Amino acid sequence: RCQFYKGEADWRAVRAVKDAIQIPLVVNGDITSFDKAVAAIEASGADAVMVGRGAQGQPWLPGQIGRRLETGVAEAAPSLVAQLSHARTLYDEICRHYGLRIGLRHARKHLGWALEVAAGYSRAPAGVLKNWRGRILTSDDPQSVHRSLQDAFDDFAWSAAA
Ligand SMILES: Cc1cc2nc3c(=O)[nH]c(=O)nc-3n(C[C@H](O)[C@H](O)[C@H](O)COP(=O)(O)O)c2cc1C
Repeated sequence: RCQFYKGEADWRAVRAVKDAIQIPLVVNGDITSFDKAVAAIEASGADAVMVGRGAQGQPWLPGQIGRRLETGVAEAAPSLVAQLSHARTLYDEICRHYGLRIGLRHARKHLGWALEVAAGYSRAPAGVLKNWRGRILTSDDPQSVHRSLQDAFDDFAWSAAA
């Protein structure tokens, strides 16, 4: 709590808690991949992991980690088409939930994360991401956001294919 997200989570320190209690324990902090989930469980002896910031822009990650812990089967990240569909659905649902005026602003950070994840997935140059982020995250028009999201992901697909 005092570190304010600086430094790295010390999963070994959690083991002392695990050893002292009889109820299930969930470890968290800096778990951004399956490998890190395994490392956190091994270091702490925890019964489960919780993913926070690692799920930003990739809400499928906790499910993938959970299924792989249960079955051992690794899953690929969703395709760009599926990632675009996720981002659009989330955007629409946030706008519907909060109303357009507040929802538009609230949804922006999620779109920013989704763009970052998709750009990383397709190894798009930093300039391409920056350009689309700037355009999409400043728009107040949902239709134009939808059009730009489509164009941005098309652009990323070109990078992925190159
Ligand atoms: C945007 C945000 C909001 C959070 N809100 C809470 C909260 O309300 N209560 C809480 O106990 N922890 C909260 N946390 C802390 C997380 O539960 C978690 O302990 C922390 O982010 C470390 O895990 P991570 O590295 O997987 O993100 C929040 C974290 C973030 C990034």
